[in-house]
Amino acid sequence: MLCILFLTTYFVGCFVKQRPSALYVITFCLLSLEKSSGNGLLQLQLQRDHVVLDNGLVQLTFTKPGGHLIGIRYNGLDNLLELHNPELNGGFWDLNWSEAGSSGTRGKFDVVNGTEFQVVVQNEEQIEISFTRKWDRSLLGQHAPLSIDKRFIMLRGSSGFYSYAIYQRDESMPAFQLNEARIAFMLNIEKFVYMAMSDDRQRRMPRPEDRLPPRGRELAFPEAVLLVDPIEPEFKGEVDDKYQYSCENKDNKVHGFICIDPTIGLWQISPSNEFRTGGPIKQDLTSHVNPTTLAMFVSTHYGGEDMVVKFGEGEKWKKVFGPVFIYLNSLSHHHNTNDSDTAFLWADAKDQMKKEVEKWPYSFPASEDFPHVDQRGSVSGRLFVQDRYISEGKIAAKGAFVGLAAPGKDGSFQNESKGYQFWVNADEDGYFNITNIRPGDYNIYAWVPGFIGDFRCDKDIVVAAGSSINVGDVVYMPPRNGATLWEIGVPDRSAAEFYVPDPDPMYINKLLINLPSHRFRQYGLWARYADLYPNQDLVYTVGTSDYNKDWFYAQVTRKVGEGAYKATTWQIKFKMDTVEESGKYTLRIALASATFSILEVRVNNNGLGEALFSSGLIGSDNTITRHGIHGLYWIFNVEIETCVLIKGDNTIYLTQARNLSALHGVMYDYIRLEAPSLTSITLA
Ligand SMILES: *[C@@H]1O[C@H](CO)[C@@H](O)[C@H](O)[C@H]1NC(C)=O
Ligand SMILES: *[C@@H]1O[C@H](CO)[C@@H](O)[C@H](O)[C@H]1NC(C)=O
Repeated sequence: MLCILFLTTYFVGCFVKQRPSALYVITFCLLSLEKSSGNGLLQLQLQRDHVVLDNGLVQLTFTKPGGHLIGIRYNGLDNLLELHNPELNGGFWDLNWSEAGSSGTRGKFDVVNGTEFQVVVQNEEQIEISFTRKWDRSLLGQHAPLSIDKRFIMLRGSSGFYSYAIYQRDESMPAFQLNEARIAFMLNIEKFVYMAMSDDRQRRMPRPEDRLPPRGRELAFPEAVLLVDPIEPEFKGEVDDKYQYSCENKDNKVHGFICIDPTIGLWQISPSNEFRTGGPIKQDLTSHVNPTTLAMFVSTHYGGEDMVVKFGEGEKWKKVFGPVFIYLNSLSHHHNTNDSDTAFLWADAKDQMKKEVEKWPYSFPASEDFPHVDQRGSVSGRLFVQDRYISEGKIAAKGAFVGLAAPGKDGSFQNESKGYQFWVNADEDGYFNITNIRPGDYNIYAWVPGFIGDFRCDKDIVVAAGSSINVGDVVYMPPRNGATLWEIGVPDRSAAEFYVPDPDPMYINKLLINLPSHRFRQYGLWARYADLYPNQDLVYTVGTSDYNKDWFYAQVTRKVGEGAYKATTWQIKFKMDTVEESGKYTLRIALASATFSILEVRVNNNGLGEALFSSGLIGSDNTITRHGIHGLYWIFNVEIETCVLIKGDNTIYLTQARNLSALHGVMYDYIRLEAPSLTSITLA
C-alpha cells in the first residue's frame, strides 16, 4: 500500500526527470502488485517512451508522445491488440485527407502521431491524458492542416476506457479536404474470431489471410473477396466484404469482437451521434475481418464526394469527436466458449451501451470543448404534416425524424459534416424534445415516413447553455400539386420495399441467407437484373404490377460483353380515362440513391426524342457497390403538359443513361403521378 502511495505521488516528477534506475524500481513494484490489484487504484506510469494506465481491471500501454495504443491487458490476456500486421497495428486515430480541389474521396492516410504528451487529470477517480499534434507551415503537404488533441480517459473501477479528440483549425491554415476521421482498433488475430454488430448480424469471421490470394479471390472491387480456400473450411465459398456489416448512425451504438479462449469481449460503444456526420440514417462501417473495430466520425461511405468536408484557406473550425467507450467484458470459467457465452457477452455489452447512453453527456471529460449537461440546451415542439389531398386538417407527424443541424438548405443535413447534429423521433402525436444540445446556431430539419420531401424550419435556432426553447407547432407541407393518380413504393428514403433478388449461389454470405430484412446486403445483386430481364427492360403496369415483386431494387446497367454495359430504360404503363384540358400533371420522383447516373424521363412517343427531364450527372454514394438499400436522398418534380398525355394508354420511360460500369445506377424511393391542381382547374 505504501508503495502505491509512493507511486501516485512521486511518479510524474520521477519520470519527467527520466531516472532509469527509479523507473526500474517502480515498474518492478507495479508488477508485484498486479496479483492483488483488485483494490481498483488508478495508476499512471510514465516511462521514457511509453505511458501505462492501470485501474486494476484494465492496463493500457501507449507510445509517448505518439499516443498510439499498443497494449490492452485484461483478464489474464497480455495484449488484446494485434501488433504484427504488415501496416496498421494497435489502436490509433487516423484520417484521410486531400489537397483542396481534389476530386474523389480518397487521399492520403495520416495516422495521427502526437508530438507532445500531457497528463490532464490525475486523481483517485480519473486519469486523463492528452497527445497533441500541432500544425505549422513546415508540415505543408505532409500532414492535414489540423491541430489535433487526442485524449484517453481511465476511470476507477471501469472495465474499459474512453477516447475523444479535438480537431482544430486556425486562420493560418491552408485549404484542404477531409475525407475520413476515425479511431481504429486492430485486435489479436489468433484470439478475436467472433464478431457482433447487432442482434441478428453476428458470426464467426474468416481470418485475414483468407482474403488474400490464393485463399481468397478478389471480386468486382477489392473489398469483396470470394473465399476459395479459407483456413477453416466452414467459410469456403462465402463472400467476405466489410460493407455487409454496415449500419445506420442511429443504430451504430455497440459492436465488437469476442475472443473465445479466454472468453473476452471488446466493444466499441458510441453513446451519442452528435459528432457523427450526415444525420441519423447515414451509414458506416462497424467491425470486420482482420479483426478490426472502428468508430467512424467522418466518412464518405454511402454519401460519396458530396460528403467530403471542404475547408477554405484560413477557415477556422473546431470539432470534438467522441468520447467513445471501449468496453471489456469476460466470463471467468474455463471451457470452450459456446453460443450461450457469446450471447451473454453481447447482451452485457448492450446493457453497458444503455448505461453509457444514460450517462451522456459525460460529466468527466476535462476539455472545456466538451460541454457538460448544464452547458447544453433543449429544443421542443410539435410537428404536423399538412397535405390537403390526404386530409383537410393537420396530421400529427407520428415518428418523424426531427433534428438540429447547421443552418442550410432543405435536406442539407445529409451532407453536413462540420457541425454537430441532434436527432430524435417525434412521438405518436408529433411531439419532440431534443435535449443536450451544444450551444450554437441551428436549423430544425425533419422528414416524415410516409410523406415525400424535406422539412426545414426557416427560423434560425440559437441554443445557449441552459436554454430551453419551445418552438410550438410547426407544419410541414410536403410537395403536392394535385390528387394522386398512382404511386409506386413507399416514401421512406429506402428501396427496401422493392424486389431484392436472391443472390447468385456462387456469391453468398451465409449469415444473411436467413435474414429477410438484410437480403440486399448480399454481393452481386446488381448482376441479377440481366438474368431476370435478359432481353427486354422492366415494364411496370399500374393496376396489375406489384412493386414488391415487379420493381427491381436498383436501376442498373445491363452487361452486354466483357466490360461493356448498356443503359436501361424502364417503362411505367398506365391508363387515363380522361386528361384535363388545362394545368400541368406532376411526376414526383424520389431517389434513395444515385451513383454517377443521369436519370432521364420521357413520356409517350415510344420513349423517343428529347427527354422531358434530365437530372444531369448526379450522385457518387456507391450504394449498389456497398450492398446498401439507400444512400443520399434526391427528389425531382417533373411537370407534364396535358397535351403530352392521352386518353387511354400512356407510358413513362425512365432511362438511366450512363453505361460506364456495372456498379452505377439509381435506387428509387417512391414515384407518384399527380393530377393538375384543383385551384388551377377552378381558375381555368
Ligand atoms: C425538454 O427536455 C428538457 C430537458 O430534460 C426539459 O427541461 C424541458 O422541459 C423539456 N421540454 C418539454 C416541452 O417537455
Ligand atoms: C454507351 O453509351 C455511349 C454514349 O451514350 C454510346 O455511344 C455507346 O454505344 C454505349 N454503349 C453500349 C454498349 O450501349
